[in-house]
Amino acid sequence: MGSNKTINNFKGKDILSLDQFSITDISHLFQVTKKMREIGRRAKPSNLLKGNIVTLIFYEPSSRTFGSFGAAVKQLGGATIDVQDPQHFSSVSKGETLEDTIRVFESYCDVIVIRHPAMGTAAKAAKAAEFVPIINAGDGIGEHPTQALLDMFTIYEKFGKLNNLTGVMAGDMLNGRTVHSLIRGLSKYKNNTLYLLSPDELKLDKPDFTKFKNSGIKLIEIASTGDMPKNANFWYWTRVQKERFKSLKEYGKVKNRFVLNNKLIKERAGKDTIFMHPLPRVGEILEEVDLNPNAVYLRSEVRNGMYVRMALISLVLGK
Ligand code: CP
Repeated sequence: MGSNKTINNFKGKDILSLDQFSITDISHLFQVTKKMREIGRRAKPSNLLKGNIVTLIFYEPSSRTFGSFGAAVKQLGGATIDVQDPQHFSSVSKGETLEDTIRVFESYCDVIVIRHPAMGTAAKAAKAAEFVPIINAGDGIGEHPTQALLDMFTIYEKFGKLNNLTGVMAGDMLNGRTVHSLIRGLSKYKNNTLYLLSPDELKLDKPDFTKFKNSGIKLIEIASTGDMPKNANFWYWTRVQKERFKSLKEYGKVKNRFVLNNKLIKERAGKDTIFMHPLPRVGEILEEVDLNPNAVYLRSEVRNGMYVRMALISLVLGK
């Protein structure tokens, strides 16, 4: 974070990790998110961000994060500079450094949203930026804080609380940045238990596991769907992150080890269990599940992404 930026709760702050938020911050964000949902549902853009410009610079592909940040800004009357694949379509292709790229784009806008394949890059960008806040839209296997906030909002809307919850997280605990941020987020609240279902090779990194456990959340690693608790509040399925593997052979050994289908729902879910996924899915949730009224991944989870990001950008800009 550059020295000239104001720090006042959300206003002027870089959004880099779930670690930076208090429960009060998250409550405030969710109150604003509810107001943004009303704006979003009116189909009549607000002018809250009129005159504001947000740069979306994505060094990795994205549908939801890129699309929903863009829609969020436009819903509020602002404009975006869209830089997708800067390795080919910006002067990064000529060797321009990350730091110089950030210094250039901050001259044109009020906020920069960045996705990058290397963990820690959003923090690096925040150090380089002197005048505008940086929002982490996913840094390699590190974190994806805005995804976790929308996931938490989705859980909160369903159960009216973020404590005393039991969840199952399945898939890629090692490489899944959405998993890392969501565990951090739920660790802030009391009496939460998460069952982590993954192949041995894709368990949480040991230091991460210890750090999260010490933060107060109960984590139980399991290796079979038969060890899933019955009646969990939510199942959070994730994709095995193919792009993080050294070889396709290694990926092939672990992909889709655990598939969410109607049979598993019948065996282990409760009537109120919600089925979540940050998406994209590539076979780990069968399409037959989509019709289940508790399958939220293509419904509220996606839409909440836009509302939470509308709220976040507005707060960061001090609106
Ligand atoms: N959930 C998520 O980050 O999706 P995208 O990669 O499409 O942005």
